[in-house]
Amino acid sequence: MDNVYLLDLINGISETLDYVSTTVSGHHRRVGVASSIMAEALSLDADDTTDLLMAGLLHDIGAFSQGLKFDGLDFEIDLTKHAYLGYRLLHGHPLLARIAEMVRVHHTPWKEVVQNGNGIDKSTLFLGNVINLVDRADVLANVNSRGMKKDAIRKVIGSYSSAIYAPRAVEVFMDVSAEQDFWDRITESSGHIRDVVTAGIKERYTPQDQLLDFSRFFSHLIDFRSRHTATHSQGVAETAVQLARLAGMSELDQKRMRLAGNLHDLGKLAVPGKLLDKPSTLDPKEYEIVQNHAVVCETVLRSIPGLENITDWACQHHERLNGKGYPHALEEKDLSLGSRIMAVSDVYTAISEDRPYRDGMDQEKALFILQSMAVDGFLDHEIVALVVDNYEQIDAIRRIVQSRANAEFKHFSTQ
Ligand SMILES: [Fe+2]
Ligand SMILES: [Fe+2]
Ligand SMILES: [Fe+2]
Repeated sequence: MDNVYLLDLINGISETLDYVSTTVSGHHRRVGVASSIMAEALSLDADDTTDLLMAGLLHDIGAFSQGLKFDGLDFEIDLTKHAYLGYRLLHGHPLLARIAEMVRVHHTPWKEVVQNGNGIDKSTLFLGNVINLVDRADVLANVNSRGMKKDAIRKVIGSYSSAIYAPRAVEVFMDVSAEQDFWDRITESSGHIRDVVTAGIKERYTPQDQLLDFSRFFSHLIDFRSRHTATHSQGVAETAVQLARLAGMSELDQKRMRLAGNLHDLGKLAVPGKLLDKPSTLDPKEYEIVQNHAVVCETVLRSIPGLENITDWACQHHERLNGKGYPHALEEKDLSLGSRIMAVSDVYTAISEDRPYRDGMDQEKALFILQSMAVDGFLDHEIVALVVDNYEQIDAIRRIVQSRANAEFKHFSTQ
């Protein structure tokens, strides 16, 4: 399996969140960069710096999850709710547990943090408060066109020292934000995050055996936004692996297919939740927005070193052999075995899985649709034949995996 840096993966998720709307555009990146500047000024060690940067890059992830009306991205609403949801989304993974704690307190006033630390260690609480501070600075300066000037922002932040922000964080912020360079650096939107961040970070490879686990974890971030898609990515991934095996792909490639399957709808993070929740009644404009998820998938995955091998497989799942797919209307000659398998897995899973508003199709109906799509040149004949010949097995495994994912979703959405 290819090596992937944790920071690159997280930055990829972060970039996707920043695509959501023009109001929020770049917010996670700016908060990430501002956090890293604070880290440098606070002389944090590389571990703390890296955690702070990653927490900054993901801090509002809970606002994109199911149940929150966050499409207008009004940062004033549901502050504690999205912080807590973000915590719940992230804390299940050992590599993200500390980041999750920072996210949890990123809107908690310092006074409250000091009184009731919830058993979280002091340095983590402090770093969470640094996010709180730089988040506010960015919201005032750049979000929802507030466009407040630097001096006014510094005044606001300064007036809440002790009450909302840790005095030490305010002190350091006053130092760094006095320079125009701070504001220029956080709004500089081009270039890879690694080149923009000058603080000493600790490169952490996502351990190879954990990469799959990690991608499954990320599939939750993608799927849990809508109860309509809560288990979709895992169903697709599992089906893709089975078809890859049946088609004779190597074990390594089967693993890559799982990774690609888990990430194939990554771009849906950039689709407003209200569109995800009404899949049957999209008007042409809305449909275009949903279709854009395939482009976002490509843009983001391509920027993550180590994922070169799976980007096409993941992001071409809406391309069709007859050239009638999207986003590039590719044709048969352009589509590899992996991409064809992913397309079949996506359609098969989408029509077979139960959704809140309808039951999944039974064998007869599902196979009829797949075969018709093969006849009409949308899907690959041979791969559809693999589904037909192995339906019982493929379907049984998909059901098990999706019911497990559904239990995880229920656990997430009811707490
Ligand atoms: Fe927030
Ligand atoms: Fe924020
Ligand atoms: Fe898709």
